[in-house]
Amino acid sequence: MENDIQRVLLSKDEIESKLTEIGRKISEDYSGKEPVFVGILKGCFIFMADLMRHIDVNCSVDFMAVSSYDGTSSTGAVKINKDLSQDINGKDIILVEDILDSGVTLNYIKNYLSVRQPNSIKIVTLLDKPARRKADIKADYFCFDVPDAFVVGYGLDYNEKYRNLPYIGILKPEIYS
Ligand code: IMP
Ligand code: MG
Repeated sequence: MENDIQRVLLSKDEIESKLTEIGRKISEDYSGKEPVFVGILKGCFIFMADLMRHIDVNCSVDFMAVSSYDGTSSTGAVKINKDLSQDINGKDIILVEDILDSGVTLNYIKNYLSVRQPNSIKIVTLLDKPARRKADIKADYFCFDVPDAFVVGYGLDYNEKYRNLPYIGILKPEIYS
């Protein structure tokens, strides 16, 4: 597995100290509120689990699972495979995503959930790849900017593999070309 990684982009320690900082910021911003963290499966699962342990306000968690329709990225069509298990009317929602790439997925989810009239919807993402943005969307909280390369580990996959790497690495291009 490690042999497929070109180089480590973000170490376990770098990620951990950034999560402490972002967790503190979110806790300050949501002081006195009770946000619902909505993780976008599957990529969010490690990031979300670690981030939550740095949040010190009352909160709850929920999950959505989505996939993009093949060949329709230009239309921004996203398929909802698992929806929320609670009513979010009047709630403060924080969407938790592994990486903001074209932005199509999060843009769709944000619009999709807005209809249910939550009090607010914000986005926290581990990684941001601004070079590839297509949708007009940005993260309210993000941990790291990454270059335009395919990255895996710490929840992020290539063909469902590498999610278990404890760091974020650039995948060797020969693996996916
Ligand atoms: P977007 O709709 O293009 O922003 O898609 C974001 C989704 O694409 C993420 O949730 C990831 O699942 C996937 N993705 C985008 N870039 C990468 C990458 O470099 N590594 C792994 N997954 C990626
Ligand atoms: Mg994902």
